[in-house]
Amino acid sequence: SSRNKQAKLVLLGDQGVGKSSIALRFVRGEFHENHEATIGAAFLTQTVNVGQGSIKLDIWDTAGQERYHSLAPMYYRGAAAAVVVYDINNANTFTRALAWVKELRQQTTNSVLIVLAGNKADLASEHRAVPVEEGRSFAEENGLVFAEVSAKTGMAVQEVFMTIVILKLSS
Ligand code: GTP
Ligand code: MG
Repeated sequence: SSRNKQAKLVLLGDQGVGKSSIALRFVRGEFHENHEATIGAAFLTQTVNVGQGSIKLDIWDTAGQERYHSLAPMYYRGAAAAVVVYDINNANTFTRALAWVKELRQQTTNSVLIVLAGNKADLASEHRAVPVEEGRSFAEENGLVFAEVSAKTGMAVQEVFMTIVILKLSS
């Protein structure tokens, strides 16, 4: 098929929000209750078949700890899509996510597809700190794809990556 493509994708967001867990859920269908902090960045790939074509996603799972911030441009430069993750149970991580969106807008071209993903939705009933409307309206105002997800249960994780694949295959 002539529709076999490749796309670079980057996961950004504060430490502990679940970037690695989202990647692990998507690529391996696994979840680890005590996942260790990423050092620098981790690299994963996943090929997704869509219709008659396929797309190979080269996924850069960055480290959220502030001391790694200066490395981030290496991973988001040239990316087709960025998934900016926050923890819906921690308002500081939402503020941090908005700063990542701003940095991406300033440092990359408009063609980068940005997904704002509110993770740990499985804890919402007891611990929610960021209303779903807050995430959704920020995304709408800034032209982002928005989803609340759970790496733990798998809720909406597949859909986030499929949305990226479909939008990128058609562009
Ligand atoms: P850094 O690599 O330090 O930037 O962190 P990270 O964003 O990669 O977070 P990581 O995936 O390592 O997850 C941090 C902790 O949150 C781990 O103990 C995970 O098990 C937990 N976690 C991740 N996603 C979820 C989720 O959807 N629900 C719940 N309940 N816990 C989660
Ligand atoms: Mg990590």
